[in-house]
Amino acid sequence: MRIFQAGPLAIALSVFTGAASASGFQNHTYDYIVVGGGPSGIISAEKFAQAGKKVLLLERGVGPTVATGNNETLTWDHSLTPIDLPGLSANIGALDVWNQYMCTDTAGNAACVLGGGVTVNYMVFVHPPARDFDDKWPKGWKWKDVESAADRLYKRNPGTTLPSADGKRYDQGLYDVLSKFLSGLGWKSVDMIAEPNEKHQIYSYPSWNVQNQTRAGPVRTYLPAAAKLDNFHLALRTKVIRLVRSGSQVTGVEVQTASGRSQIITVAPHGRVVLAAGALSTPRLLWNSGIGGKAQIETAKKSGVAVPPKAQWIDLPVGVGLKDHPIFAITFNTNTSFGLVDYEGVLNGTDSRDISLYRKHSGVLTQGKHRLIFFTSEEIDGHTQYYQGSCAPTDEGVVTMTTYLTHGLTSSGVLGLDASGNTVIEKSPYLQTAADRKAARTFIQKMVKDITAPSTGFELETHTNVSTILKAQTPGTHYVSSAKMGTDDGRKNGTSVVDTNTKVYGVDNLFIVDASIHPDLPTGNIQTAVMVVAEAAAAKILSN
Ligand SMILES: Cc1cc2nc3c(=O)[nH]c(=O)nc-3n(C[C@H](O)[C@H](O)[C@H](O)COP(=O)(O)OP(=O)(O)OC[C@H]3O[C@@H](n4cnc5c(N)ncnc54)[C@H](O)[C@@H]3O)c2cc1C
Ligand SMILES: *[C@@H]1O[C@H](CO)[C@@H](O)[C@H](O)[C@H]1NC(C)=O
Ligand SMILES: *[C@@H]1O[C@H](CO)[C@@H](O)[C@H](O)[C@H]1NC(C)=O
Ligand SMILES: *[C@@H]1O[C@H](CO)[C@@H](O)[C@H](O)[C@H]1NC(C)=O
Ligand SMILES: *[C@@H]1O[C@H](CO)[C@@H](O)[C@H](O)[C@H]1NC(C)=O
Ligand SMILES: *[C@@H]1O[C@H](CO)[C@@H](O)[C@H](O)[C@H]1NC(C)=O
Ligand SMILES: *[C@@H]1O[C@H](CO)[C@@H](O)[C@H](O)[C@H]1NC(C)=O
Ligand SMILES: *[C@@H]1O[C@H](CO)[C@@H](O)[C@H](O)[C@H]1NC(C)=O
Repeated sequence: MRIFQAGPLAIALSVFTGAASASGFQNHTYDYIVVGGGPSGIISAEKFAQAGKKVLLLERGVGPTVATGNNETLTWDHSLTPIDLPGLSANIGALDVWNQYMCTDTAGNAACVLGGGVTVNYMVFVHPPARDFDDKWPKGWKWKDVESAADRLYKRNPGTTLPSADGKRYDQGLYDVLSKFLSGLGWKSVDMIAEPNEKHQIYSYPSWNVQNQTRAGPVRTYLPAAAKLDNFHLALRTKVIRLVRSGSQVTGVEVQTASGRSQIITVAPHGRVVLAAGALSTPRLLWNSGIGGKAQIETAKKSGVAVPPKAQWIDLPVGVGLKDHPIFAITFNTNTSFGLVDYEGVLNGTDSRDISLYRKHSGVLTQGKHRLIFFTSEEIDGHTQYYQGSCAPTDEGVVTMTTYLTHGLTSSGVLGLDASGNTVIEKSPYLQTAADRKAARTFIQKMVKDITAPSTGFELETHTNVSTILKAQTPGTHYVSSAKMGTDDGRKNGTSVVDTNTKVYGVDNLFIVDASIHPDLPTGNIQTAVMVVAEAAAAKILSN
């Protein structure tokens, strides 16, 4: 592999490539240009490279690990950066790198760093149940169709409920209290990895995206295999501005490097461009390229982008139908004793007990944020609505249940663009339908009633009644459907932007593989589904 340097990362990056020299990409053409080095971009780029194609993966952010050129390591282990350490993920927003890694030009929350959201997320790794695909995904994308892609992913990136090498679970106070509480309600304990289809009145030890006691994900589980290939190239700190089109053909991409220089990279004669910039950024790339609603393309033009002439615009419902899981946090004191990891002590090296255990590949620092995850469902007006609860300590004896309205929800919103080129929420995706509002209230009412039953000894904190809990709704950061896949062509009054080969309607050689194309939300946290879909999409693209 060659990593093109777009700045001072040059020396560190050559460590990863094993090649000391590098040249620009201006004199090359590529079979596949993949835009965005998040989970979907890395997985698909690796697949294309394994198939012998000449691949360029373009990522606007830096590498977050030592192997990808980062040198901001832990004071007590220079092979690891803070994002690598599972025990620090619980407090990731407090890390110095957080501000550096989060995008500043998108709506909602997205990460602009190699690895995308998977570099900064809470590592909850929910294997999707079959129904997540069987319900609303189009023909060719039902569970029987994507199951082999899931198997390929799980072989390389399985997730784990037991990351500590000594086979022990640490800091189990919260689990003990809540598992007793939930089993008292008649709920069942399951292993959420072994039994992904069990999603009604069940709880589990959390499944984390951890391998070898470090944060896993495609940066660790796919990129190294691509890096070994001469036909795979990665450019960091290289932001794609727009696609260069000649009618229905994409001929190249315009990029801006870290120095602010613009240049055009060309696609080989039968080459393809694959968008993987994430559900909050891929729509901008489409609008900047004259693909989407007329108003947004006009706005893109006003923001200074060289959009193609009007005659080449392709009218598709980009940004329409944006979906996300809404979160409702329930915080309560359990009146028992369990606490938090000493994040500062881990960072400054004074927490010698946990650090010395970690040096033996064990202990609480091998675990993620949560201590118990539950799933349940309710019948709401003739449909099944699913819920997830991710439970973590937030203070001594205090639990926060981050509860999500998940699969089955019916609301959607609209993503748009402003004149500075930021993506913005034009219509909120949350609780737009009466069914969703009823579903949220029904579940929170039940849970609050059970939590506050006198026998529990629990006491609500922060938001102390159903109304205030519902009012304090926050984003789930599992954005999907901003460039939806389906058979109803959006140019012909349909709702879809890509067809079931993930090809953009009206463009011959443009594909999308990120969360934008998911037509529906899964039952749990979404990253696993994003990876499964990228595996499946890459196979379809290669065979077409
Ligand atoms: C704070 C946070 C916490 C989360 N917690 C969890 C969790 O615990 N479990 C879970 O399952 N999911 C979680 N998620 C969601 C999950 O991480 C995302 O759904 C997933 O990363 C989406 O993958 P993607 O490939 O579609 O896009 P992204 O991960 O958004 O990746 C897009 C990539 O493209 C790059 N890019 C964007 N625009 C350009 C451009 N113009 N040029 C070049 N590169 C570009 C970005 O830098 C990024 O690397 C969380 C997300 C966030 C933000
Ligand atoms: C770490 O990397 C940054 C960014 O590339 C660079 O400016 C800095 O000099 C490096 N520091 C060390 C100690 O190598
Ligand atoms: C690209 O090709 C041109 C013309 O052949 C040459 O002048 C230039 O040095 C080349 N650039 C790189 C980075 O190889
Ligand atoms: C885990 O460690 C094994 C043994 O050293 C190695 O082969 C494997 O690639 C590592 N996996 C990850 C994801 O780091
Ligand atoms: C390290 O962090 C601990 C908190 O756990 C704090 O008490 C201590 O003062 C810090 N030490 C240094 C040297 O920063
Ligand atoms: C918490 O526990 C103490 C000691 O067991 C008890 O006195 C107190 O009433 C409990 N508080 C609640 C809110 O249950
Ligand atoms: C809920 O709590 C809020 C804030 O404490 C309070 O204003 C409101 O009256 C309460 N509502 C109910 C129904 O108790
Ligand atoms: C477009 O679709 C909408 C809703 O599906 C329908 O009401 C409308 O009549 C359609 N318009 C045309 C021109 O087909």
